[in-house]
Amino acid sequence: MVKRNACVFISGKGSNLKNLIEKSRNYNFPIKINLVICDNEKALGLKYAKLNSIPYIIINTRVSNYENKIINILRKYKISFICLAGYMKILSKRFLQNYKKIIINIHPSLLPKYKGLNTYSKIIKNKEVKTGCTVHHVNEKLDGGNIITKKTFFLSPGDNENSIKLKTQALEYSAFPEAIIKIFRQN
Ligand code: GRF
Repeated sequence: MVKRNACVFISGKGSNLKNLIEKSRNYNFPIKINLVICDNEKALGLKYAKLNSIPYIIINTRVSNYENKIINILRKYKISFICLAGYMKILSKRFLQNYKKIIINIHPSLLPKYKGLNTYSKIIKNKEVKTGCTVHHVNEKLDGGNIITKKTFFLSPGDNENSIKLKTQALEYSAFPEAIIKIFRQN
């Protein structure tokens, strides 16, 4: 099968990147990860790009035209699909208008609940009985694009931010690949 050239954007640990790299080795998985973009030279997740010989670019987001640089790099690598996996910068309206291909993001809550940061503490504060993760298309509204997949679990009485994070991320590792398969099944 002809796979799409994909780029994963990260800022930190990169466990979703690691998982997507593993899944994309499957012959039938619709994307190949050709590039990693990262805004943090100390991000632990960069090791997965290195270990798998995937080109990675560290972007200095303190310069004003950094998004233009990203667009040029994406063109150079013929990237037609972007996965945001713990990328902590918000893509500007201009970026989204320039890059007209598919961009998806994974978020650690059941959207539309708890957009933005500090999701786990908000979940505890609001005494939720269930939570999970959501994979969605990226548009101009923060965590507001069309939802592709959600996965849910019920909270236990002893849960804290750390245990919720572990349980949420365990679900992310099946939700993200499933969402990608779903997108290409529809096309
Ligand atoms: C994930 O939990 C994701 O939902 C959120 O950022 C986290 C990234 O984790 N957007 P990792 O860097 O993939 O380990």
